[in-house]
Amino acid sequence: MAEDNEDVQLEARLAEQDRFEPPSSFTEQANVSDPGIYEEFEENWPDCWEQAAELLDWDQAHDEVLDESNAPFYEWFIGGELNASYNCIDRHIEDGRGDEVAIEWVGEPVDETRTYTYDELHEEVNEVAATFREMGVSEDDVVTMYLPMIPELPIAMLACARIGAPHSVVFAGFSADALATRMESADSEYLITCDGYYRRGDALDHLDKANQGLSNVSHETTTVVVDRLGEAGFGHDLDENQHDYADLVSEQEGEEVEPVTRDAEDMLFLMYTSGTTGEPKGVKHTTGGYLSYAAWTTHTVLDVKPEDTYWCSADIGWITGHSYIVYGPLALGTTSVMYEGTPDYPDKDRMWEITEEYEITQLYTAPTAIRAFMKWGKQYPEEHDLSSLRLLGTVGEPINPRAWKWYYTHIGDEDCPIVDTWWQTETGGIMITTLPGIGTMKPGSAGPPLPGIDAGIVDTGGEKIEAGEAGYLTVDKPWPGMLRTLYQNDDRFINEYWQEYSDPDSDEWVYFPEDGATVDEDGYITVLGRVDDVINVSGHRLGTAEIESAIVGVEGVAEAAVVGGDHEMKGEAVYAYVITEDGYDGDEELREEIVAGVEDAIGPIARPEEVLFTPELPKTRSGKIMRRLLEDIANEEELGDTSTLRNPDVVSEIQQQAQSD
Ligand code: WTA
Repeated sequence: MAEDNEDVQLEARLAEQDRFEPPSSFTEQANVSDPGIYEEFEENWPDCWEQAAELLDWDQAHDEVLDESNAPFYEWFIGGELNASYNCIDRHIEDGRGDEVAIEWVGEPVDETRTYTYDELHEEVNEVAATFREMGVSEDDVVTMYLPMIPELPIAMLACARIGAPHSVVFAGFSADALATRMESADSEYLITCDGYYRRGDALDHLDKANQGLSNVSHETTTVVVDRLGEAGFGHDLDENQHDYADLVSEQEGEEVEPVTRDAEDMLFLMYTSGTTGEPKGVKHTTGGYLSYAAWTTHTVLDVKPEDTYWCSADIGWITGHSYIVYGPLALGTTSVMYEGTPDYPDKDRMWEITEEYEITQLYTAPTAIRAFMKWGKQYPEEHDLSSLRLLGTVGEPINPRAWKWYYTHIGDEDCPIVDTWWQTETGGIMITTLPGIGTMKPGSAGPPLPGIDAGIVDTGGEKIEAGEAGYLTVDKPWPGMLRTLYQNDDRFINEYWQEYSDPDSDEWVYFPEDGATVDEDGYITVLGRVDDVINVSGHRLGTAEIESAIVGVEGVAEAAVVGGDHEMKGEAVYAYVITEDGYDGDEELREEIVAGVEDAIGPIARPEEVLFTPELPKTRSGKIMRRLLEDIANEEELGDTSTLRNPDVVSEIQQQAQSD
């Protein structure tokens, strides 16, 4: 009882507090502690970005920091040459740190762990690089990876980087169709996958899904299959174009592959992400700019030092895992922890058990996970000693102040700064957040743009708006980690990101991330969410058009509209409004088929929370679906303006039905 009272008092005290200062124990040791960095970067732009490039070892120094002559196709560190795998591995060994841990892998089954020192990582990355060469992978060939969170994933990525072959990692939770689309789009002839993996104790058959995907790829492919499950596996037979990873790699035992010198602007990887149309976008990132920016933000924002044991709990199948499990941390020579499983298996204290056991110094996770921890209760973290933690981070979606404060109190013990980091697949690295050793934190607000990043909030006409009003987020100057284009689609690159607020006639280019935001009188930005047709489910970006196309692919469906509705845990959830074809009933059976159809086409993460059958969809006179109204219905909010509708009556009908369901 006494304890409950204490909690109530604590909550009450925190509820009122809207500003938090970083503890002096943190600021005294922070990688960045001089607030002058903001001014320094502003005055010295773009040369300030030399500081990022200097975190890497270059084979050839650049001649020029930024080339704007072909904007918005900006180029960074022109003339510079380097290799990303060398920067993430070899140079740390040359510094005498080969026996320090690079990757600490924690399997889902308790007690299954693997540790890779930098020496061991070097050995396996070289053997895999030699394997890829032997298979015929040449510089600039795109290698697809469809792997869960096992060490072979970062190893294969670094092996690709070593030989100058860009990788394209497809999230293992995505469907066979999603894999096929991405391999086709990238003309990728090589696939690295595995037999299966564990999810909450069950073995999942991954190769079966990969094979279904491959059967829809029109060109020849060669596949390498990692045996993850061993005895617990599914007894797959490999066909003639498929090879066992361990067999191939053992043939290259002890082989070393000289890291190839890549131009700063050469592609390091492709990452597909969702956009307004159904076709996923292949975001292109480069070797020099991306790697410098990933390293610099890991240093300045996540405060990573070589002696840390740093843990980002994202999946490497998303950009967060690329930048902040693999490239940033390894470029800085730290220990990066990689966890295969879910936070609640075998019990809801798994993350805290790992934190205690490995003495984690920084934890970087998503608001959706924090909301789950909060719901499960503080008794889980309380069972463990979390005092090794020095910094906490969040990414992927807005964090509500209550969840922020819970994280601050129950995980950080009121003694760790929290960095709420806004960024995107396209930005390559963190763009908006407080610097943990400098900035006052305001729960719910990401913070000011990083030094050297020029972001602002504008109205529909592109004019800067007043503090406190909502508008659109823009980035007004280029930065080294930015995407260079959409793979083989320069036009779409311009249309998606540069059309809205740029003035090409006067060569003024403004990047539009398609997020809504507000800014306060101190210049702190609160990002509200997407303003395009993208839904952010548990921090995962999904295109409504992709989901809709999966739904209309189900027999009996005539038309569908999908929107994001508020969801307590997931942030947003998928709400589908469906019109059936004549002769079909909107019944439970069809509903199940729709859910299955979405899972098949995209993956379980896109599973609709609700499917609502309706006779019509609200449309404007020009025939465009009014999604905002459907969102209002999903959120049980008062309806927005219906006067521009061709069929205003339908809205109240749908609303009544939603309420009765
Ligand atoms: C959202 C993930 C609010 C935003 C790194 C962005 C956020 C999209 C935050 C990118 C944050 C990311 N606060 N919203 N701290 N971080 N977002 O490409 O809508 O998977 O545009 O990259 O997530 O998602 P993506």
